[in-house]
Amino acid sequence: MKKSGLIVVTATLFFAGCTPAPEENSPITPPVATSDNAIEVGKDYHSFANPEQVVITHIDLDLTADFEKRRLIGSAAMDYQKVDPNATRLTLDTRGLDVQGVTAAGSPVEFMLEKADPNLGAALHIELPQQGNRVTINYATSPEASGAQWLTPAQTAGKKHPFLFTQAQAVHARSFIPLQDSPQVRVTYNATIRTPKALLAVMSAANDPDTQRDGVYEFTMPQPIPSYLIALAVGDLEFKSMGQRTGVYAEPSVLEAAALEFEDTESMLEVTENTYGPYSWDRYDLLILPPSFPFGGMENPRLSFITPTVIAGDKSLVALIAHELAHSWSGNTVTNATWRDLWLNEGFTTYLTYRIMEMIFGTDRYNMEAVLGYQDLQADIASLDANDQILAIDLRGRNPDDVFSNIPYEKGALFLREIEHKIGRENFDQFLLTYFEDFAFQSITTDQFIAYLDKTLLKRFPAELDKARIQQWIFEPGIPEGAPVPESDAFSSIDQNRQAWLDGDLSANDIDMQSWTVHQWLYFLNNMPATLPQAQIAQLDEAFSLTQSKNNEIAHSWLMISVKNQYQPAYERLYDYLTSIGRNKLVKPLYRELSKTAEGKEFAKRAFEQAKPGYHPLTVKANEGYVK
Ligand code: BES
Ligand code: ZN
Repeated sequence: MKKSGLIVVTATLFFAGCTPAPEENSPITPPVATSDNAIEVGKDYHSFANPEQVVITHIDLDLTADFEKRRLIGSAAMDYQKVDPNATRLTLDTRGLDVQGVTAAGSPVEFMLEKADPNLGAALHIELPQQGNRVTINYATSPEASGAQWLTPAQTAGKKHPFLFTQAQAVHARSFIPLQDSPQVRVTYNATIRTPKALLAVMSAANDPDTQRDGVYEFTMPQPIPSYLIALAVGDLEFKSMGQRTGVYAEPSVLEAAALEFEDTESMLEVTENTYGPYSWDRYDLLILPPSFPFGGMENPRLSFITPTVIAGDKSLVALIAHELAHSWSGNTVTNATWRDLWLNEGFTTYLTYRIMEMIFGTDRYNMEAVLGYQDLQADIASLDANDQILAIDLRGRNPDDVFSNIPYEKGALFLREIEHKIGRENFDQFLLTYFEDFAFQSITTDQFIAYLDKTLLKRFPAELDKARIQQWIFEPGIPEGAPVPESDAFSSIDQNRQAWLDGDLSANDIDMQSWTVHQWLYFLNNMPATLPQAQIAQLDEAFSLTQSKNNEIAHSWLMISVKNQYQPAYERLYDYLTSIGRNKLVKPLYRELSKTAEGKEFAKRAFEQAKPGYHPLTVKANEGYVK
């Protein structure tokens, strides 16, 4: 492990609003003992673990998925190394775990579980044995584990079998495995997972597509990965190959549609390798989750977890696959050292996503997606506090789940796009390729990235690049003036159509939308004025059946318009949408908008109450405030 070094940043930028919030028990962040409250670079404020003294290097899991009790029950054995030869205890993160005992070489070892912090869980201190370098923790997870969702058969596509999946990023691995839950600690792992015989288990590890369905499944992850990439799913899953190294796992009724929708995955893998260097993870498979999966996708290595809401029938939403695949380079190979550095994962990945989409689907698609992404960014810049618009964000005292925005994604990508434009695409691609090599299987901080830029691109392109500008991108709010704003020709005619329709010069029936792509539709809808007359909304709906749109993104944009204008004919669909989809990005804006009026809130409450048993804990937490 390359240590990030505990350099103290004394930049004045971090003053405002960073006093850690007092928590119930132990504070979420130990007080920082510097007079100016500076961030300690590389310090993980979201983990209690002590990798600077003792670091875990490998985990062996043996877990039984008990669907009746909704618990994972078993053991985690871990190998550790002393970084400080005098260290006497190993400190792990846990959250809601029932720790039954700790042993080393079969003998009990002393341990102490601290009181829990509401966001970060509880530190587990283990007294190190005199001999050996391995301890085993026997434990069970809580049925309410924040990082696991246990679904009833009714909540799956097939309706016959239950389903379990985990989602560890950012700080939830500790709710299903006691470990050092910090992205700067990398471990290899092996696992034995025991399930009901009818079900198949898959993990972010080597999965054997031809495995016997016998209720005992073995996995190995030979490359060291950060804890947030450990993932497990159990369900009535089948596999279909999509290419030499790519395939998809899904419930039987979804499998064919998924394999068709994502058939370009193999080509995506190839073009990305050709541009950014070899794929390091052997196979790249997809797992299609039930609709309650709280994210669009999660880049679990070798097996990205994917929401079924992107299976649109026309590949219109497959940028998500490009995104999760791209994380195999930016994120999984080169990893953010702390959650402050998340933009190193998501900004680079968003930049790569656009590039992959261009290579597979052409420049028009690239430009359209980039404009839509830029518009999402603008909306966040307009609504977020200045501190939350900073790429290297100060998360001390905050739960990373509460700070999710487009900033690390789209602002990060725009920053990289600017460098690309200034030094030329070939040079930038070469830079990225070398960057992925130089930091392969390491976790790095923003400050390490800046130091790396200093000695590479800034040296090589002194006339094109400017240190102050780079600092501005990374440490200041907003979008720097002169940023390379994306543009799309394919959207100009959409603007004209929208305006003519709004002015009453064109009726909805006369809009020639036969050739419109999903992205043109999204652009058409997302840029409507905040309020529209009911008759006009109805006219659009009659002409294009938008309330019935099968595309979940178009439906989302349309339902947003409907809620803003209280367009009642769409409310049945809205109810159905909110109660059948758990992807937070799609439902949260609707709840937020509904909560702005008394009637809206009543409606939201009803939908939420019905949906809640099927929502993931993260989706519940993100939205319950809107229905109180
Ligand atoms: N790694 C993220 C999901 C994530 C980020 C989970 C931070 C927890 C904390 C994943 O790669 C992602 O970005 N998903 C997006 C995809 C989209 C930008 C294409 C999503 O889920 O919407
Ligand atoms: Zn991502």
